[in-house]
Amino acid sequence: MPMNYLKATLLSLILLGCATLDAPQSSDSLPNLAQRYNIQWDSQSNRPHSIPGGDGFILKPCDASDESQQNLFIYLYTLPKSIKGYLDGKPKSTPEALHILINQSYRWEDGNFLSGFVGYAPDGTAFMHCGIGQFPNKHMAELFLIELPGFRNQGYGKKAMAALDRWATFLNKAGTTLNGDRKSEIRTLIARVSPDNIPAMKLLISSGFKSEFKSNQFKDELNEPPPDHVKFTQQQIIIDGKSHKITVMTTPRRPEPKVIFLKRIGEN
Ligand SMILES: CC(C)(COP(=O)(O)OP(=O)(O)OC[C@H]1O[C@@H](n2cnc3c(N)ncnc32)[C@H](O)[C@@H]1OP(=O)(O)O)[C@@H](O)C(=O)NCCC(=O)NCCS
Repeated sequence: MPMNYLKATLLSLILLGCATLDAPQSSDSLPNLAQRYNIQWDSQSNRPHSIPGGDGFILKPCDASDESQQNLFIYLYTLPKSIKGYLDGKPKSTPEALHILINQSYRWEDGNFLSGFVGYAPDGTAFMHCGIGQFPNKHMAELFLIELPGFRNQGYGKKAMAALDRWATFLNKAGTTLNGDRKSEIRTLIARVSPDNIPAMKLLISSGFKSEFKSNQFKDELNEPPPDHVKFTQQQIIIDGKSHKITVMTTPRRPEPKVIFLKRIGEN
């Protein structure tokens, strides 16, 4: 047998082995996987029905046709008290608030994921918008979370964090991503918060996030070199009497400083 033929056969066997290891197992159907990660699966529409967060709190995919969700988005994004400290902190108009809901409404078509959820209290009240948005073709997804003021500081934030981590892990195990692109599985969640947002920083720290962004993460997670215009500075901050090292990011386009928090998914 010619040497080249032997080499080619060996190589294809190795590649086949790798592909088999990488591919989701046949028993790992989406409903089975969903069950493993405690995600309520709707087999008929082939998408998640809800993600239980514990003690009656649940996340349901955003649905622009749902009136209670429309009202929630109007309260969350137009009221100054609610949006203070979040994004740019500026209240939106009602059409802008509804547009956020429309953009976030869940679709699972041809492997495309737009991953926005609404959190419901045990009595069925919609009070939270949260989710993860993946940067196109990157290994990083940005986490976002906002609640109506009356529901804050009751432990719902922590429950939502844990549920979203399960959701991201499920996506990876299912062999897909928010973009439907197998090559860019989500490895890391990132959150950006204002340095004076103590509740958000406490939530992130106690959910296992660390405020460290190393420049090699641009290459590893974002497949690109760190752009010159992004500046990182290390600072110390005291929260509840304890000192924490934080990384603050500024860019010329977004001059207001943001503290960066990162977490590998599936790690607590
Ligand atoms: C940030 C936010 C999502 C926190 O959610 P939450 O449901 O209040 O958080 P939890 O009740 O699970 O509390 C998480 C931690 O924050 C602390 N915390 C919450 N609100 C606090 C407050 N007003 N003052 C001090 N600590 C507070 C809790 O004591 C808890 O600390 P611990 O983990 O050390 O015990 C919520 O305040 C919010 O919607 N803020 C506006 C939007 C925003 O800033 N989002 C940033 C998201 S990354």
